Amino acid sequence: MLLAHAKVSALLLLAGSALAVERVRYSPVECAVRGSTVTLPCSFTTIMPVVRVVWCVNHPICHGTVPSVYDSKKPNKNKRFVYLGDYNSNCTLKIREILSEDNTTFRFRMEAEIVDGHYTGSTGVAVSVLDAEPMRVQSSAPGPVSVGAAVTLNCTFRCSFHDLDVHWHKDGHRLPESGPTLRLMAERSANYTCSLALPNTMSPPFRLNVAKLHTNGHFVLRLSVSLGLLMALILTVAIVLFLNKRRKRRQASPHDGK
Ligand SMILES: *[C@@H]1O[C@H](CO)[C@@H](O)[C@H](O)[C@H]1NC(C)=O
Ligand SMILES: *[C@@H]1O[C@H](CO)[C@@H](O)[C@H](O)[C@H]1NC(C)=O
Repeated sequence: MLLAHAKVSALLLLAGSALAVERVRYSPVECAVRGSTVTLPCSFTTIMPVVRVVWCVNHPICHGTVPSVYDSKKPNKNKRFVYLGDYNSNCTLKIREILSEDNTTFRFRMEAEIVDGHYTGSTGVAVSVLDAEPMRVQSSAPGPVSVGAAVTLNCTFRCSFHDLDVHWHKDGHRLPESGPTLRLMAERSANYTCSLALPNTMSPPFRLNVAKLHTNGHFVLRLSVSLGLLMALILTVAIVLFLNKRRKRRQASPHDGK
């Protein structure tokens, strides 16, 4: 009884917050390189079971006969658009081999079974399609790093983008990792480059300088601590000896110095 009541309250609370906040959230994608594969990250909240998901272009609410690039209810889907999301919270869309005609605003619409149970995230996500040009490698550590340090390299472009097919190279050799972020443990100095799976996108090399500061630093630290302790010991012994000597001298001639 109490539990049921709590559940109803929780549902009401959820309904209230769902009305108050935007139900579809997009991550901004400012641009994409023509021919590349990008994702439009997207998430949504709903209190009703969703039975249909749609991505459309150039329309504020994806209504009626508006052309959709993806529609879960239509069989003849455009193969360039792949829905990576689900029917619960994730509405991420993948666009393969992006074209000039994709230079537009994309919006996500969800529909529930009941009347008026539909909602379109009207802000949408605007994509501008650009010609290929070299990427850039940006490091979390622009200066020298020590052996074993964690370093993050980002393959960046003129604008923020979510490209899936980023290739990484170390001293000219292809690495197995893909995606715009490369996480590594510094081992030795090397040149890193990144590119898309397209011509003319190879970045200039970024040189990661790895210094053996870590072990050297420890050695120097330990050496100075040992030296410090030794000097303190010598000083203590000297002071004790000096005080002892003075006390003995005073005992020998108590009126000394008066
Ligand atoms: C949505 O799905 C995509 C593809 O499976 C995934 O990469 C992404 O992390 C998911 N987003 C969230 C918020 O779970
Ligand atoms: C890395 O690039 C620098 C120039 O930026 C070059 O002098 C050096 O030889 C390169 N090292 C390797 C291992 O390719």
